[in-house]
Amino acid sequence: MNSTPPFQAEIAGIGSYLPEKILTNFDLQDKIDTDDEWIRQRTGIEERRIASKEESSSVLAAHAARKALTSAGIEAGDVDLIIVATSTPDVLFPATACFVQQQLEASRAVAFDITAVCSGFVFALSVAEQYLKTGKYETALVIGSEVNSRIVNWQDRTTCILFGDGAGAMVLKRTQNPERRGVLSTHIHSDGSRSDLIRVPGGIGRTGVNSQAVENGEYFIHMSGNATYKIAVQKLEEVSREALTYNGFSTDDVDVVVPHQANRRIIDAAGERLNIASDKVFSNIYKYGNTSAASIPIALAEAYESGVIKKGNLVLLMVVGSGLTWGAGLIRW
Ligand code: UT7
Repeated sequence: MNSTPPFQAEIAGIGSYLPEKILTNFDLQDKIDTDDEWIRQRTGIEERRIASKEESSSVLAAHAARKALTSAGIEAGDVDLIIVATSTPDVLFPATACFVQQQLEASRAVAFDITAVCSGFVFALSVAEQYLKTGKYETALVIGSEVNSRIVNWQDRTTCILFGDGAGAMVLKRTQNPERRGVLSTHIHSDGSRSDLIRVPGGIGRTGVNSQAVENGEYFIHMSGNATYKIAVQKLEEVSREALTYNGFSTDDVDVVVPHQANRRIIDAAGERLNIASDKVFSNIYKYGNTSAASIPIALAEAYESGVIKKGNLVLLMVVGSGLTWGAGLIRW
């Protein structure tokens, strides 16, 4: 059981941004050997969003962040900390978070990125949680933003059907509220021995800027879908139980689950293993596909804005991604 920290990390605001361009399963079936029915049955995805040329991860992130700041009633100049979770940074460096800071004119904030791929938002939330709960910072902006369309091999039907672009952002405030509203706890894990499951093998450190690596498709996502699928369901259950036990809750106490939107079947299987009713498990994967680090904050924003998440609800986040990384978070909204 968790002892009460001096401060809480309350959710002050949330927002998301999705590029306008929609790519449907039917559009894909015109280009590669796949079909709408296969994609829908195996993944639950019907369409995904594709960023325009001008929209990099920082641009999507800044749009989502402005919405989150507006919903929190907070000025960008009051933000102390910006963390961007992304595996599609604008450039190798500086950090995408620095570009976001510049675009928002959040001049006071310290800004850095986190790479935990699909798990990135929960990892970033975990870092922000520590800074707020210890009293170091007062206002944090945690963002997940991805332009997966730039690292997808559009000829590889086993991966290109899955991914989409988008961004979601959350504003957290340090408070001392007796109801303990806010992030109750986060639980994050890594296992580098499973790094082969999902990866972009091309890099700077290993290969240098290498046209052969580009030709070999090493800058695209490579994934062992089936093996990832099996381990994903297991890790989601495991880490969700860890978060609940840590806080003295059972699965019955959960009001809404907001899982990483990787595959509808993975979400359903994890919900079943946790014995949580399917109507408590939020999914918008049919519209956006897998937006990696952006998927949880996009889903959270939509669940909150549509009234699915209400004040006082116990919300469980769960995620698994490349690394291997996995995590869960419990929020008293
Ligand atoms: O964000 C976290 C990381 N990612 C994930 O969590 C993804 C995890 N994995 C998955 O979601 C699923 O494994 C996939 C959706 C990627 C694949 O679904 P699956 O049910 O595991 O299919 P499979 O890989 O076992 O393939 C079944 C068949 C194969 O044909 P054969 O060998 O049985 O003849 C594939 O070639 O489906 C074929 N296939 C396709 N057919 C039509 C694979 N991709 C496609 C496609 N369209 N796009």
